[in-house]
Amino acid sequence: TLIPVILAGGKGERFWPLSRKQRPKQFLSLDGSGKSLLQATADRLLPLAGDWQNLWVVTSSQLVQGVHEQLPDLPTLNLLAEPEGRDTAAAVAWSTLEVAKRYGEDAVIGFFPADPWIDNQANFHKTLCAATLLASSEKAIATLGVKPTYPATGYGYIEQGDLAGSFGGLPVYRINRFTEKPDRETAESFLVTNRFSWNSGMFVFRAGVVLEELRTYAPEMMRLLETEGVSAYAHLPKISIDYALMEKTQIAYVLPVDFGWDDLGDWNAIERLLKKDALNVELANHIGLDTKDTLLYATSDDDVIVTIGLEDVVVVRDRNVTLIARKDRTQDIKQALKLLQDNP
Ligand code: GDD
Ligand code: MG
Repeated sequence: TLIPVILAGGKGERFWPLSRKQRPKQFLSLDGSGKSLLQATADRLLPLAGDWQNLWVVTSSQLVQGVHEQLPDLPTLNLLAEPEGRDTAAAVAWSTLEVAKRYGEDAVIGFFPADPWIDNQANFHKTLCAATLLASSEKAIATLGVKPTYPATGYGYIEQGDLAGSFGGLPVYRINRFTEKPDRETAESFLVTNRFSWNSGMFVFRAGVVLEELRTYAPEMMRLLETEGVSAYAHLPKISIDYALMEKTQIAYVLPVDFGWDDLGDWNAIERLLKKDALNVELANHIGLDTKDTLLYATSDDDVIVTIGLEDVVVVRDRNVTLIARKDRTQDIKQALKLLQDNP
């Protein structure tokens, strides 16, 4: 069996103004299903966990209340509250220590981001069963690799190595190299070789195996966490698991996946999914004159948006806030939010 832990402490700022401080991206229903990203993720993992007793969530203390409201069946003891966000290396390390306290070091744990779009659930389950088999028999950190379609700079890239065997009927490969968020040029050079996949952000391993790796590659963080526990948080480095561990470990494996995956990372993802007809959302009433490749999103049915002579623009209306951005600049929403904070 697998103990799934959902990483739900991110802010999802690139979905502002839909995402706000108390209503981060993982609490939003972006696909029109009525279920939030977090609820959809929990539903998807529940069959793997067996029942709610074995499903965990790690999030920041400000979001604990919200997570309880969203997942009323989640046992209180399975909701880990971080005093502050120190990125995913700390979240993974601390949760693994906590999970190991209950189930032992041989427990197979899976970490899952709260925000992916996954199309084929049956296929998803099959892949995770294979990853679980791999992790229980080998000293392995299993990743799920997605076939890349463009030189994205916001993902980790996995270079596939030799075939390591077959688990649950699926081929598993060693990883030669893991490169987190390469620049455009590097991403392009990866793509042409056909040897790389995108890291989907899901990791499966035995608790004891990853703790040993973290003690090797992030010794200071582990020393603090293992001596002071959660009260060490303020002193922990702010670094993601991808940089802290995945770029360094020698025991990483990849399972190529084809369950239909997208990262709901920013407004461009919404447009990709709309094109696949994968979303059932109300778009604003739009009157566009000489308007091309423009994404309009409004939270009220009454909203009317009129555009003239625009191209490659995103317009989002949510109550009293409107965002108008060039599509290739939506990554900079974070910067704009800083300005907002500095000039309330
Ligand atoms: N508990 C907790 N604490 N969760 C966090 C924290 C934290 O401090 N920071 C982020 N998370 C959660 C987010 O809510 C999200 O579900 C998940 O961890 C991943 O964090 P992101 O911030 O979204 O990471 P990313 O998208 O930049 O990169 C990761 O995901 C990509 C695929 O979507 C990496 O693993 C990449 O390699 C990968 O390609
Ligand atoms: Mg992400």
